[in-house]
Amino acid sequence: MVLVDHPLVRVHITQIRDKATSVDAFRAHLTAMARLMAYPVLADLPTEAVTVSTPMADAEGVRLAREPILVPVLRAGLGLVEGFRDVIPGAVVSHLGMYRDHQTLKPVRYYSNFPVERQAHPFILLDPMLATGGSAIDALDYLKSEGARDIRLVSIIAAPEGVRRVEAKHPDVPIFTAALDLRLDENGYIIPGLGDAGDRQFGTL
Ligand code: PRP
Ligand code: URA
Repeated sequence: MVLVDHPLVRVHITQIRDKATSVDAFRAHLTAMARLMAYPVLADLPTEAVTVSTPMADAEGVRLAREPILVPVLRAGLGLVEGFRDVIPGAVVSHLGMYRDHQTLKPVRYYSNFPVERQAHPFILLDPMLATGGSAIDALDYLKSEGARDIRLVSIIAAPEGVRRVEAKHPDVPIFTAALDLRLDENGYIIPGLGDAGDRQFGTL
């Protein structure tokens, strides 16, 4: 697991945790965090050489060998899309619909839209909360079943139990998070966490 530790990330996460933060401010802070996290998450993207002509001479440069595909887990992952798109303009977004059953805490997948013939691209799985890890494991199982091989998981707040489960089941997938919290409560919520990430973004409290 990679803990993304930067003063600005810590400032934004403090605001998104605060229950006094409004829905609009929550979304703005989440977007700002996503933008900051995109740098370490995408640091090792493969590039290929290109030559461009400046007004003065030719100059050697690079372009991305394969553009990353963003995979937000609905609903809460939507809040990380804009920040990542700010740094990868035009990135393909492949939505994955999933919710956690309130009784069993097991993930229920209800929508997927895997991009055609892009298995070789890097996939960035976006979901701000990594709690029991059930949703992330199911999302990774799904992406791999479609042929994805280079996958990175981006969360904002993770619970130790969830990180352990995902690393045990998918040891090849790097997990990036901005905070490793204390534990889960009896309903599978992260303590101290931020509450329900979907509800806080969309106002459905
Ligand atoms: C949240 C969150 C994750 C999941 C994490 O989604 O966005 O997908 O819970 O929990 P887990 O690690 O225990 O699986 P939720 O079910 O609340 O759906 P929503 O985003 O549609 O509200
Ligand atoms: N999903 C959330 O939105 N919050 C949690 O704390 C756990 C799962």
